[in-house]
Amino acid sequence: MREQLDQLLQDALREIASANSEDSLQELRVKYLGKKGALTSLMKGLGSLSADERPLVGQMVNTVKSQLEEKLDETLTGVREAAKSERLQSERLDVTLPGRRGGRGTKHPVSLVIEEISEIFGSLGFQVAEGPEIELDFYNFEALNFPKDHPARDMQDTFFVDDNILLRTHTSPVQVRTMLKHAPPVRIISPGTVYRCDSDATHSPMFHQIEGLMVDKGVTFGDLKGVLTTFVNQYFGKGTGVRLRPSFFPFTEPSAEVDIACVMCRGTGCRVCKQSGWLEILGAGMIDPEVYRHVGYDPESISGFAFGMGIERIAMLKYGIGDMRLLFENDVRFLSQF
Ligand code: DAH
Repeated sequence: MREQLDQLLQDALREIASANSEDSLQELRVKYLGKKGALTSLMKGLGSLSADERPLVGQMVNTVKSQLEEKLDETLTGVREAAKSERLQSERLDVTLPGRRGGRGTKHPVSLVIEEISEIFGSLGFQVAEGPEIELDFYNFEALNFPKDHPARDMQDTFFVDDNILLRTHTSPVQVRTMLKHAPPVRIISPGTVYRCDSDATHSPMFHQIEGLMVDKGVTFGDLKGVLTTFVNQYFGKGTGVRLRPSFFPFTEPSAEVDIACVMCRGTGCRVCKQSGWLEILGAGMIDPEVYRHVGYDPESISGFAFGMGIERIAMLKYGIGDMRLLFENDVRFLSQF
């Protein structure tokens, strides 16, 4: 049995030495050391040896086994090294080639519209103010004259953190925050993200608005119309028709809905304006005295107006986007057009 072991060792070492690939080494590992390999079948003969000889031959088996393992590992490392240097030889790397540039992004149409509108109102003396998206009931509703349980709240259902903390449904709470912090005169716009429990082809649970607020001595409804007409003419083109329709908001009195002549058909009637020739773009009105009461302004000595518009709608009209969902799908083929 010793001779057989010795023979096995010699044969195996010779074969291993002439192996030149990972695969053939793996085959040899199985052939000699595997469960059904040569060494295992030799070991079956151990039982027939005398009690004296068994431990000695057993020890020999172990020595042969570890010698073979060592040789296999060593040869494997050598084979891998050789393969690697061969690959490095054949793959020529030109380190002087220019690198690949990462694609450059573009501004999202919603950001573009915010910037364009902010610039126009900036030129009219409006400063940008911001407020939190997670808002208190007081700023989002109460101070804007939406009393608890008032039906006007139904139109602005939202996501509540608790009874008192919610995701703001509009940018109007920034009016309240601004007036509480600054004495009149104030003239701000406030772009930002707002949330509502609404989701279909034309409504997203997350969207954007721009709020406007101007309070000073002697501000009139005529000023409101003048500021908005100036904005519409600059943004949608000189001579774009503007019309105000009576409406209701709890925090303005009187209130109006503002339409512009349809930017697609220029007022003759089409699918976009539902044949009316007009497109509603914002809500506006004179600040209700009840709001002044909540922020500590004296309604007898000042007056002012506010307005609020949805940015996605403006972006769709300005850039002729037919489906609002395109604005949130983040498809690069769409976004790179802006
Ligand atoms: N906050 C209103 C809304 O989201 C829009 C609005 C209407 C804002 C009239 C105003 C305003 O500032 O005066 O439905």
